[in-house]
Amino acid sequence: MKTRQDFMKMKEKNEPITMLTAYDFPSAKQVEIAGVDMILVGDSLGMVVLGYDSTIPVTVNDMIHHTKAVKRGAKDTFVVTDMPFMSYHLSKDESLKNAARIMQEGGADAVKVEGADGVTPIIEALTFGGIPVVAHLGLTPQSVNVLGGYRVQGKDAEAARKLIEDAKKCQAAGAIALVLECVPQQLALEITRLLSIPTIGIGAGRQTDGQVLVYHDLVGYGSGYVPKFVKQYASIAETTISAISQYVAEVKSRSFPEEKHSFNMKEEELHSLYG
Ligand code: KIV
Ligand code: NA
Repeated sequence: MKTRQDFMKMKEKNEPITMLTAYDFPSAKQVEIAGVDMILVGDSLGMVVLGYDSTIPVTVNDMIHHTKAVKRGAKDTFVVTDMPFMSYHLSKDESLKNAARIMQEGGADAVKVEGADGVTPIIEALTFGGIPVVAHLGLTPQSVNVLGGYRVQGKDAEAARKLIEDAKKCQAAGAIALVLECVPQQLALEITRLLSIPTIGIGAGRQTDGQVLVYHDLVGYGSGYVPKFVKQYASIAETTISAISQYVAEVKSRSFPEEKHSFNMKEEELHSLYG
């Protein structure tokens, strides 16, 4: 399994780091077999797996439940699990307890938290407790109602300056990596140069140390709206709908199941059954 040190070395060697979300056993297995460096059990699961319209309803128990399945599917991949909405804001104690559960019960190798203001002391406390933390800045979906929508962050000089300062604070607090979501590529590059920890971009251009995407977006598995920063490499939903339609048609026409899908009783058993 690649570790924190490997990700630091990859940054030093300018070798891109690949990260992808996974939420269950089969997706984790596929992601590991395909050679992804790091898995994210994102709270995006609230939207793409559970059907909520934001990440806000997701709970710590949801994250643990899905992390366990992912770890069973990808035993050799570094797994980062999102701390969900309001699970690291009430107090340091509450944050430590929630993160510890995600590590101990879920089996995560690190946790991810959004934002810097009020959060960097939590990053420090978790790190002190032996819990590696990935930071997440730029568009932070748990704060969608404060930000006023899903939009690019850090476009003007003042906002960009604040993001740079926040990124430095996250690193100083002990973060092992930084996810940058929906920021101008020039700003992402600047932060990538300034930090010694790897930056992992999503909608942050071509020059971050790594890239992350949502599994359902990448494979086209029924995620509906596709943001500008996504590249869809397949259309899995089309394949599954076509397979399922065929199944429906074959059951209706009695062409499935066939003889080869059926079990038989021995002749004498059948005989004694009917006397
Ligand atoms: O929840 C998630 O999938 C994420 C990524 C988009 C970075 O946080
Ligand atoms: Na997330």
